[in-house]
Amino acid sequence: MATRWGICGAGRISHDFMVALKTLPASEHQAVAIASRDSSRSREFAERHQIPKSYGSYRELAADPDVDIVYVGIINPEHLKVALLMLNAGRNVLCEKPLAMNLREVQQLVSAARDKNLFLMEGLWTRFFPVSEAIRGLLKEDNMGEIKIVKAEFGTYMLETARLVEKELGGGVLLDIGCYCLQFVCMVFHGEKPESIHATGFLTEKGVDEAVTIVLKYSRKRMAMITVSMAIQLTNQATISGTKGTITVPSCMWCPTSLVVNGNVQEFPLPVPSQPLNFTNSTGLRYEADQVRQCLQRGNAFWLKECPELPLAESELIMSILDEARRQLGVVYTQDTA
Ligand SMILES: NC(=O)c1ccc[n+]([C@@H]2O[C@H](COP(=O)([O-])OP(=O)(O)OC[C@H]3O[C@@H](n4cnc5c(N)ncnc54)[C@H](OP(=O)(O)O)[C@@H]3O)[C@@H](O)[C@H]2O)c1
Repeated sequence: MATRWGICGAGRISHDFMVALKTLPASEHQAVAIASRDSSRSREFAERHQIPKSYGSYRELAADPDVDIVYVGIINPEHLKVALLMLNAGRNVLCEKPLAMNLREVQQLVSAARDKNLFLMEGLWTRFFPVSEAIRGLLKEDNMGEIKIVKAEFGTYMLETARLVEKELGGGVLLDIGCYCLQFVCMVFHGEKPESIHATGFLTEKGVDEAVTIVLKYSRKRMAMITVSMAIQLTNQATISGTKGTITVPSCMWCPTSLVVNGNVQEFPLPVPSQPLNFTNSTGLRYEADQVRQCLQRGNAFWLKECPELPLAESELIMSILDEARRQLGVVYTQDTA
């Protein structure tokens, strides 16, 4: 039986998610309903993606018993409220990154999912790319020896995107793309908590973080450095350096299609999209969608409530590092003081 998706929000990433879902077999993935705050947007989205039901409110989607899992593809400050709405109505949730605005909100979502015995996952799609799987395989086999230094950078010009620059829309480079670099580091160091966190950077005139470097120190002389910017293009590379070798993600570290292992290049091409996409390599969203299906497929009361490859403890760890970096930079959201 197909996994029945409900799509929450008719914005840019929801469009890409739908295009990605269409690259998977229809016998396994079906979008059964779309909800937008605006019923005409919802109808238009439903027509564009051949979705049978369209709702003019998120509440109606939450109440739809035909939905196995809701994909929450809306702006960051709404994640907590809307994901809670879905969980409280008995729906499993895949919520776009960042899972919420700060650790306190993430913990609220995790508790709600556990109380309701439902599946919850943060949409850190990178984790499920074949490149990421290949990296995990290499690390497991100990091919690189002990990993000593991890570096990741992600920068692109986004200073004209409202949800990135406006604080009340959840703006700031750390929440938007810092989470990708940190998920990479956390994957390599198996969700280990760093011993220290040092962040430095610059804010925009509107008071959100524009460019940031974070240095994380781990036990046994290991460390990680990440740099993110929404003002300039960076190399968008990631490297893992161990005592026996080096792994490099040479570009697009948040949605990678190639890998260099001790100088040898491997390619992992993505399926071609059936419609134009809003974001780079978005057909790669198929891998997280498929992972969710695998978690839910166990059936009855025995389906997994979190994903083993991206446990909720890691979403909490990533957010705790982002919180600390924001604290050091002096970026405070209303959600931090509520
Ligand atoms: N995985 C990725 O590669 C990726 C890429 C880009 C973004 N994202 C994440 O996806 C989420 C949405 O990003 P996006 O670029 O798709 O954003 P967007 O197009 O600007 O907005 C997404 C949707 O948010 C909903 N929304 C709910 N309350 C809102 C409010 N008060 N003001 C404005 N919109 C509101 C709207 O849906 P309706 O009006 O239809 O209800 C809107 O279409 C963010 O959390 C972002 O971090 C992920």
